[in-house]
Amino acid sequence: MKRAQLKIGVLVSGGGSNLQAIIDAIRKKKLPAEIMLVISNKANAGALERARKFNIPTKVLDPKSYPDREAYTSEVTDTLKNNGVELVCLAGFMCILTPYFAQSFPLRALNIHPALLPAFGGAGMYGHHVHEAVIKSGAKYSGCTVHFVDEGCDSGPIVLQQVVKVLDHDTADSLAKRILRYEHDIYPQAIKYFALGKLIIEGKRVKIKK
Ligand code: GRF
Repeated sequence: MKRAQLKIGVLVSGGGSNLQAIIDAIRKKKLPAEIMLVISNKANAGALERARKFNIPTKVLDPKSYPDREAYTSEVTDTLKNNGVELVCLAGFMCILTPYFAQSFPLRALNIHPALLPAFGGAGMYGHHVHEAVIKSGAKYSGCTVHFVDEGCDSGPIVLQQVVKVLDHDTADSLAKRILRYEHDIYPQAIKYFALGKLIIEGKRVKIKK
């Protein structure tokens, strides 16, 4: 019998290499999922091109066209729901949504963060800021984290992490690049665990069924 495909929606803002990793995993039949829709807050996001290339529906929702963040969050949330999305994947989405989003997709939304949470997360910790802070701190290791989205910022239950060494000569750019490569492994893997019903969430701890 054919296994049911998990219907996912992906939120993007940038180049979309994580989106590409998800698309590739689906195409290689490593991930039993189907991308219903890609939403970007930026019309010029490279991620949109990647989606169009594979005939994945896209939608640009510009926060500036909405009176406030609440109205914008409602639009994003309702669009995902109306497209039958079961799991939302934030993949480089640089826009903070109100708690209405997390409440609408409780333990049904994942995010990828380019550091080892709970360190180097929270307000202001995005893009190169994260890697600059890691280098400044003198930490010997950084990495990436896939976590569920809750009402806080980078604070939801952690699903998967990958450790990456910080090298003495690293710049924010070189570290970001090395970490990104591992993001592409753990994000599709985490989505796969979700799709296969392997994640057991007990408070902050996410156990992965064998
Ligand atoms: C990634 O580093 C991700 O961890 C962060 O934003 C970046 C997005 O990269 N949240 P891409 O658009 O997937 O290439």
